[in-house]
Amino acid sequence: MRLNLLPTMKMRSEWIDATMLRDFEAEGTDAHRLCTIDDGWVERFGRDILISFKNAPARERLTLELNLWGTAVGFKFGRIFIRFLPRKNEEREKPRLLFGSKEENLQTLVTERHLKFGIDFGAGYSVGLFADQRENRSYVRKIAPKRLLNCFAYTCSFSVAATSVGAKTVNVDLSKKSLARGRENFSLNSLPSNDHQFIADDVFTVLPRLARKGEKFDAIILDPPTFSRSRRGKAFHVEHDFEKLLLLALELTERDGCILLSTNCSTLREHALEVMARYCLKAARRAGKFHRQPPLPDFSPNMGASSIWLCLH
Ligand SMILES: C[S@@+](CC[C@H](N)C(=O)[O-])C[C@H]1O[C@@H](n2cnc3c(N)ncnc32)[C@H](O)[C@@H]1O
Repeated sequence: MRLNLLPTMKMRSEWIDATMLRDFEAEGTDAHRLCTIDDGWVERFGRDILISFKNAPARERLTLELNLWGTAVGFKFGRIFIRFLPRKNEEREKPRLLFGSKEENLQTLVTERHLKFGIDFGAGYSVGLFADQRENRSYVRKIAPKRLLNCFAYTCSFSVAATSVGAKTVNVDLSKKSLARGRENFSLNSLPSNDHQFIADDVFTVLPRLARKGEKFDAIILDPPTFSRSRRGKAFHVEHDFEKLLLLALELTERDGCILLSTNCSTLREHALEVMARYCLKAARRAGKFHRQPPLPDFSPNMGASSIWLCLH
């Protein structure tokens, strides 16, 4: 499908080029960013496209440029969805179909470094896979933990990555529906999920329970939302509560285990995460060093989640 072209417009450098597109294909990835501007971005999920925008000019610009980009690199779109990026979580809406057939199933499949993930454009604001965690998922595959604790697991993408290299996982998320999608992601990759745990509860309730049982993990994923409220009405603010979360996680980490600290909160950049982690290490009388994954080629600096790995020794 093609939109109306504006042939006189030049492609801007915020868009990935044909070489990068080929590199993604070659590594078995078809879920990634295509472009990032100040007020929005465009992602690819297989043949489908999701345009996320903060205002009408950004929506117009990204829609027009997407069309030019498709022509320039020879990419044939499936459907195009659009999604408004509101300031408040309560105002979040599902993506809307802009181009393509309404009859087509809103669920589709993507691959990331040959692992398969289910995408659902009808499930809610988020469609099922966060591309900015790609390198962190690869690091999980590299360290190959025996046991992984996936906090705020969502659709369990980190657990699929860990299980593909032999891990047993414990997945904790408030949302039963997201965990059910997590199980589906396991089966999409022919990974049995019966000896993995899927716990639909508050991370702040589950982590102390696991600690009381004396459970230990080789890797723990901490990628919380900026704000959330549990079923019992308890609020979580990442800026205030990440420290408490990390202290709980440290109790559950094996002597040489690794913890991912990741957030989309704009006031908690890598440096702030590291300062907080150093404080928690001291408080917990543990020692460790920090590891950072390489920057993502499809994200500009300071776009996407800020992440550091804390590897204990
Ligand atoms: C940002 S997403 C996590 C993304 C995930 N790490 C990934 O890369 O796919 C946030 C998730 O945290 C869950 N959540 C929010 N507050 C929670 C809490 N207190 N306990 C457990 N899960 C929570 C939400 O249901 C949602 O699925």
